[in-house]
Amino acid sequence: MTYAYYPPPPPYRRRRRFRPLRWLLGLLALGLVLVLGAFGLMVWAWSSAAVDTVGAVAFEQRLRIPPLAESHIDARGRRVFSLTAQEGATELAPGTRSDTFGFNGSYLGPTLRAERGERVAVRVTNELEETTSVHWHGMHLPARMDGGPHQQVAPGDTWTPHWRVDQPASTLWYHPHPHGDTEQHVYRGLAGMFILDDPDSRAGDRLPHEYGVDDIPVVVQDKDFGDDGEMREGGISLGGTGMLGDTLVVNGTYGPYVEVTSTRVRLRLLNASTARVYDFGFADDRDLAVIGSDGGLLPAPVRQDRVTLSPGERAEVVVTMSPGEQVELRSYPPDVGAGLMGRFAGGSDSFDVLHLRAADRLTPSPALPEVLAPAPDFAVGEDELQQVDRRFELSGRSINGTQMDMSRVDETVELGDTEVWEVHNRDGMHHSFHVHDVQFQVLSVDEDAPPPDHRGWKDTIYLRPGSTMRIAMRFSDYADAHVPYMFHCHLLSHEDSGMMGQFAVVRPGEEAGAVGHQH
Ligand code: C2O
Ligand code: CU
Ligand code: CU
Repeated sequence: MTYAYYPPPPPYRRRRRFRPLRWLLGLLALGLVLVLGAFGLMVWAWSSAAVDTVGAVAFEQRLRIPPLAESHIDARGRRVFSLTAQEGATELAPGTRSDTFGFNGSYLGPTLRAERGERVAVRVTNELEETTSVHWHGMHLPARMDGGPHQQVAPGDTWTPHWRVDQPASTLWYHPHPHGDTEQHVYRGLAGMFILDDPDSRAGDRLPHEYGVDDIPVVVQDKDFGDDGEMREGGISLGGTGMLGDTLVVNGTYGPYVEVTSTRVRLRLLNASTARVYDFGFADDRDLAVIGSDGGLLPAPVRQDRVTLSPGERAEVVVTMSPGEQVELRSYPPDVGAGLMGRFAGGSDSFDVLHLRAADRLTPSPALPEVLAPAPDFAVGEDELQQVDRRFELSGRSINGTQMDMSRVDETVELGDTEVWEVHNRDGMHHSFHVHDVQFQVLSVDEDAPPPDHRGWKDTIYLRPGSTMRIAMRFSDYADAHVPYMFHCHLLSHEDSGMMGQFAVVRPGEEAGAVGHQH
């Protein structure tokens, strides 16, 4: 069979005459469509930028309490824990199923607990298909045990850091720190609490301290689920913070409630979100007593109705309940800076977080002690306060105009020194600042004395747009010229994209050497 071949018809042509009026009208119409479109997009972005789940959460799941990690004492007298990073699938919210990561489980990890003075070791095994690390956020320990980007654990490997716990009772936590992948690993579920005890933390039984009963871990994270019920990663936020999810989970539980059986309950709040700032408070604005900050108990309970936590920060609060009472812990719109950007950075968002249900009969709890623990006091007087040892300018994704370089040590401090650091957020959006190795004292916030809930030990501070904080710290142990510690913004996408630097602690007179990579 053959096909006849017809040549294509000659192109149709018509003489076009230039008609200026038509052109003008056409352009105007196009312009109008574009302007309307842009406006519509702005309205859409504006209205979808605010999340409000208050009243919309049914609180039907009992709050999951991360198990206390098992441990044993080895021949050298060390308390040994084991953590295995693994893949899993988790139903975080009803009807969803997400690929997740967890330690010794599919999501999050067990709570590690040790006493001041104890020697501990943790066997960290990586069963993921990618390299990770485990950093002990808030822990005072040698740099090579710190679990930062220089202590990577390759797939299939086991890394066993060990150290002596030598710091006050506190609510610390652990999470991966592989450079560039921290946000993703934490978001997928690699995080857990590390609780330290000492005689102060029980205050002779006057502080609630029965884990999971009147002393409750509250690990708060925001998630974003797609229509397929799968947790979405790497969404953009117009405010430049990194991903902001519209669904909260607490200890991996969606819509959680907790049954309260005593008149006072202690909540250990941890903001384990990657970017979101929370302003926690109760639905009826009742006071909560803040008893602890990042690195230990406050000098005295601070009664206030809100507590703000940026990513990585912790607060221990005690709530008083009466029999049969029910109340929600919420997050109110946090102060992330005024204006347009605040809205896109979570500044208009409200959440229902956790429902507290008191039993009809409550075990009476003792009154809170009025004195808790010694306040950090580096005795920095007015003169010394003016003598800032180091300045850190936060802007964009840089600190002091530079970005993280694994092979460059940015700051060298001498063992035994007490230093005053000034941290300034130059941007119109918020950042934060976290220092490894030490807990510090906040000396000032924008030239003022720190607020009462900042008078205890801190390792992470929240810097509102334009604000400046001064902090004091002492580098009392663990010189190592070759392995640096990190300082960084704890908005994890900022950290991953280079808003991090390194400092080495050296013996007096020594210089920081080449950075030794450990595996
Ligand atoms: Cu919570 Cu450098 O980390
Ligand atoms: Cu840390
Ligand atoms: Cu930042």
